[in-house]
Amino acid sequence: MSILKIAKLGHPILHSKAEVIKNLPDLEIEKLINDMSETMLDANGIGLAAPQVHVNKQVMIFRVPKEADETEKVDVTKDDNIEITALINPKIKNISDDTANDWEGCLSIPNMSGLVKRFTKIEYEGLDTNGNTIKKYAEGLHARVVQHEYDHLMGILYINRLADIRAFGFTNEIENYWKKNNEKK
Ligand code: NI
Repeated sequence: MSILKIAKLGHPILHSKAEVIKNLPDLEIEKLINDMSETMLDANGIGLAAPQVHVNKQVMIFRVPKEADETEKVDVTKDDNIEITALINPKIKNISDDTANDWEGCLSIPNMSGLVKRFTKIEYEGLDTNGNTIKKYAEGLHARVVQHEYDHLMGILYINRLADIRAFGFTNEIENYWKKNNEKK
């Protein structure tokens, strides 16, 4: 496995729609997922999409604690034992119109944070590396990460979905000013 270079904000691949993968299993895709996993863990991320490593294909990975209530207790960026899910050619749909605002970061926009509006309950579907269908319900952080990574495959970044244009900036400033006074406004 190898650690891949991460595309940063300004690179055009982050704004282009990724291509659907036609034939599975594919050894190159398996290698890509292994390398993406190593890259994500190295960078302390909880999700990564192939365009972020300069590959314009519909592959995304993420890791979230199994139980929704563990989200509050576990620092997901520090726990390397959380299982990684890989999803190919994903589709998502919201099951209710309920939304929530919460802070997000992105490995392609380092040291910055933004308050982002997302659907709270979704269903997603995609393929695993063998071409088998994965279909799941997700809520909370799980639903948020899946929507964030799916957006990458559509060429959309979280800064396009800010709940408030002022709730975006360098993480240390956000911690000092925004989070104290305007928590999840
Ligand atoms: Ni991201």
